[in-house]
Amino acid sequence: MADFTPRLVAVDDAIAGGRVAARILLEALAEDTAGALGVATGSTPLTTWEALAEQSPRPIDRLLVGLDEYADLPRGHPQSFRRVIERQVADRIGVPYERVIVPEGDDSDAGGREFERLVERSGGVAIQVLGIGRNGHVAFNEPGSSLQSRTRTVRLTDETRSDNARDFGSIDDVPQRAFTQGIGTILSARRLLLLAWGESKSTALRSALTGPIGSRVPASAIRLHPRCTVVADRDALEELRHVEPRA
Ligand code: PGA
Repeated sequence: MADFTPRLVAVDDAIAGGRVAARILLEALAEDTAGALGVATGSTPLTTWEALAEQSPRPIDRLLVGLDEYADLPRGHPQSFRRVIERQVADRIGVPYERVIVPEGDDSDAGGREFERLVERSGGVAIQVLGIGRNGHVAFNEPGSSLQSRTRTVRLTDETRSDNARDFGSIDDVPQRAFTQGIGTILSARRLLLLAWGESKSTALRSALTGPIGSRVPASAIRLHPRCTVVADRDALEELRHVEPRA
C-alpha cells in the first residue's frame, strides 16, 4: 500500500494555522482552475475561513462541496451542515448558496452516488479541507469505516454525538444518522489539507501520521494521498515532537 508522507506545517496556534491554510487553499485554487473547494464544518476550520476572506482579493467563484450532513434534520435547520457552510464559508467568501452542495440522500446509496456524480460533472474537488475527530474519524467516517468507502448513510457514535451536542444543546437532539463522503471519496480530491489544533487532537493526529494505515484510524488514510498537507499547532503536535516538520 502506498504510504506518502504528508507535508507537515507546524504553527503556534489556530490563528496562525488559519492564515497558512488560507494561503494553501488560494494557491491550490489558482493552480486548479476548474475544481471545487472542499469544505469541512466543525470548529477547526473557522480561522481558515476568516483568513480566506481577508486574503482573497475577490469573491471565490467555486462550488463549495461539503464532507457530510446530518440526516433527519429539516432542510434549513440552523445546525444542518448546509446552513453552517452557508454562514461560515459562503457568506464570508462570496459564494452564492446554490453553489453549496453536501451529501444528502435516503437510506439507499443512490443519493450518495448522485452526489458523487454531481461533484465529478462539476470538475471534481481541487482541494479538500479536513478536520480530525478525537477518535481519528474524518468527516463522519468513524473507526471501522472501509478505506474504500463511498458517500453513504452512517450511524453516529455516542462519542461524536456528544462532541457535537454543543451545537444542539443536548445530546438527545443530535441526529443519530448522517450522510458522509466515504474515505475513498475524500481520497479522490486532487489535494487534501488536514487541520488540527489543540491537545485533544494530539493522540488522534499521532496515530493518523505514524500508526498503521487502516480503518481503525480513518484519518490515517490521508497517507494514501500523494498531495496532502497537514497544518497543526504545537498542542496538537505534542505527541509528535520527535517528527521534523517539513515546511
Ligand atoms: P472539530 O471537529 O473541528 O469541531 O474539532 C472535527 C471533526 O470531528 O472532524
